[in-house]
Amino acid sequence: MPGKADICFTLNGGPVEVQVPITMSALDMLRSKTGSTGTKYGCGEGECGACTILVDGVSVNSCLLFAVDCDGREVVTIEGVSDHARGAALGVAFVEKGAVQCGFCTPGLIVQASHLLDKLPDADRDRIKRGIEGNLCRCTGYRKVVDAIASVSGRDT
Ligand code: FES
Ligand code: FES
Repeated sequence: MPGKADICFTLNGGPVEVQVPITMSALDMLRSKTGSTGTKYGCGEGECGACTILVDGVSVNSCLLFAVDCDGREVVTIEGVSDHARGAALGVAFVEKGAVQCGFCTPGLIVQASHLLDKLPDADRDRIKRGIEGNLCRCTGYRKVVDAIASVSGRDT
């Protein structure tokens, strides 16, 4: 069909096939065609990180990625991250440390934090701060977010 494309990719470990307008973003595709609504639309301009996903193991802003560029790739969203031990631990830590207020930034922060700790499981506070610098939070002032992530990396003291 003109202006549309059929794409196949892996979403959180399972196969997905969808037809998308060629100009649709990966973020809109995930939210409207796969039910993965945990990924949030914040700015739509690559500024806030609310839409963070992993594509072939790389952290990306899904609002800036075309859906067609997911074709043949491995996509992981907050739903997939939360299914694994570290993601689940981060979710618990965010709640326990008071790092969730409005919660709008939380999925993107947890995806990004999980990605950081996959590479650097014992990341210290400075490394955590740098790792999440692309993820904006209007509510918490970041300290509690860093506390939460550091509690999972074992560097909270
Ligand atoms: S919605 Fe993608 S970076 Fe803000
Ligand atoms: S908790 Fe509200 S934007 Fe982060």
